[in-house]
Amino acid sequence: MRGSCLLNRRTELRFRQIAMLTMKSVKIKLLLCCCIALTVILLAGRASTFTVWSNRSLQRYSVTRKGYAISNFKDGQQVKLKFDINKEDSLNNRFKEIKDLETDAVFSIDDDVIFPCSSVEFAFNVWKSAPDTMVGFVPRVHWVDSSHGDNFRYGGWWSVWWMGTYSMVLSKAAFFHKKYFSLYTNEMQASIREYVTKNRNCEDIAMSFLVANATGAPAIWVKGKIFETGSTGISSLGGHNEKRTECVNRFVAEYGRMPLISTSVKAVDSRSIWFW
Ligand SMILES: *[C@@H]1O[C@H](CO)[C@@H](O)[C@H](O)[C@H]1NC(C)=O
Repeated sequence: MRGSCLLNRRTELRFRQIAMLTMKSVKIKLLLCCCIALTVILLAGRASTFTVWSNRSLQRYSVTRKGYAISNFKDGQQVKLKFDINKEDSLNNRFKEIKDLETDAVFSIDDDVIFPCSSVEFAFNVWKSAPDTMVGFVPRVHWVDSSHGDNFRYGGWWSVWWMGTYSMVLSKAAFFHKKYFSLYTNEMQASIREYVTKNRNCEDIAMSFLVANATGAPAIWVKGKIFETGSTGISSLGGHNEKRTECVNRFVAEYGRMPLISTSVKAVDSRSIWFW
């Protein structure tokens, strides 16, 4: 009895500390929101400048969308390219095992994102220091929704920004070990793969669950520039977060537990920050 009482008091204290910290960061964020709103109003006042700016960015996008480039040839080395053509139309295909893969690291990307080579190089270095973990540029978060009992909810960019916490990085831009291809295809519950195929969604959440279940550790979010050239993917359709929330709860049921682990660690290239 005494022990549990002590424990309770300790947890309560810790919760209070966390709550205080959270309040502080919420206040800072509210302040930031006000600043951003003010800036937007000022910008809107200078509508002419704004139009020029948006025209220019449109131009840049239409050029980049016409083609793609594979760069960074090193010492005249040729880049090996291999295309796998799949008969079956399933999102699970992106995690099929790749025969004769010579490297352990896989950089998984969507077809509509562009990175500076320096960002990829840095993420690769982070991955090398934690090769079992997923290391990526696009963080997402889950949390317990107390208004719906013990259900989990999925949160996008805004949720990560608001809470400063994430529990997955999406495979649209992430490094992971090639062993997870075979785990995904051969070891993971077939019901999860079927769900992904049927709903045309959440293969990336399934991969995050798989890696977290295997490592018992959180993913690593890396700071880096990434440019998305189009917003025509499934994530721009309505009701996206509701569907993703369904996936999270479904996968938790399949695993019998929530394997994802939250963290607020972000890897940053120390050469790019001059202020310590
Ligand atoms: C999840 O982890 C458990 C315990 O390590 C393991 O037995 C199980 O096979 C893992 N599940 C998957 C789908 O990899």
